[in-house]
Amino acid sequence: MEITAIIAEKKRLFEDYLQEHLAGINATSGIFDAFSYSLSAGGKRIRPILTMLASETLGCNSTKALPAGLAIEMIHTFSLIHDDLPALDNDTLRRGMPTCHNSFGEATAILAGDALIFQALSVISSSDYTAEVEIDILRMIADVCGIDGLVQGEYMDVMAEGKDLAMEEIADIYLKKTSRLFELCMYCGARIATDDRQKIQSLVRYGTYLGLAFQAVDDILDITSTDGVLGKTSGKDLIQGKATLVKALGVEKAGLWAVQMTNEAIRSIARISDIQSTVLEELARWMLQRVM
Ligand code: IPE
Ligand code: IPE
Ligand code: MG
Ligand code: MG
Ligand code: MG
Repeated sequence: MEITAIIAEKKRLFEDYLQEHLAGINATSGIFDAFSYSLSAGGKRIRPILTMLASETLGCNSTKALPAGLAIEMIHTFSLIHDDLPALDNDTLRRGMPTCHNSFGEATAILAGDALIFQALSVISSSDYTAEVEIDILRMIADVCGIDGLVQGEYMDVMAEGKDLAMEEIADIYLKKTSRLFELCMYCGARIATDDRQKIQSLVRYGTYLGLAFQAVDDILDITSTDGVLGKTSGKDLIQGKATLVKALGVEKAGLWAVQMTNEAIRSIARISDIQSTVLEELARWMLQRVM
């Protein structure tokens, strides 16, 4: 099957699972409206797709990875809602729709983001995973999202506005704000399928480099694409003085760096025995070519 067909199939599985989950939540508050709005708004669903593919690569049915993929998409959606707030990136458009705070107001958007974090934990703790797998996933969530992860990366990103950072410092922001969640996808997908630490580590390493390449491409698209295609406001990084690789190196060299990171990602999984790494290789290459 072609990689685009595999992505479409996994995305469909995820969308159905998400809608089923939302239908099962017995809540009618304004926070839940905002929570569902942002989660259902669309998006590429790269993180749940990665989580499913990590499981499949190790011989496990990808539907087993759906609860983990949903939890990660919730955490990702929380990060987008908060990233768009006036105090952070101050965006009006997300996933082709008005940002959460633009539709529901700031207080509701902040709280909907908070609710997404805790719902993510609840999805894991009420899953069918064994107690050991659940604890490992919850521990990893705590590690990758907190003070050395996503939240720290977002903090560094905002604090770096208007500054000229060295390449290594920019890569460190990418590592925290973006790669950590990609690592979480690979970790969860792999951990559901195996307890072989070496295999899990190799897949997590793939996630690290894939995330770096992904953020570089996001920064490139910010200046080479349009609002209509991206579903978010283009050209903002430059205006806000964001510390991006594009600002430090220019579009062409940032693109070459993304290719290098993609090659590193592929190398990370090349030597694991008994795994079907071809799909992950193709996915990494496809992500370099993405247009949104
Ligand atoms: C946006 O992520 C935030 C970054 C880490 C660049 P995505 O590009 O995956 O956004 P959606 O989920 O498709 O909307
Ligand atoms: C990644 O950075 C954001 C998160 C980790 C939430 P950006 O600020 O570049 O993401 P976009 O471009 O708004 O999607
Ligand atoms: Mg940001
Ligand atoms: Mg942003
Ligand atoms: Mg961006």
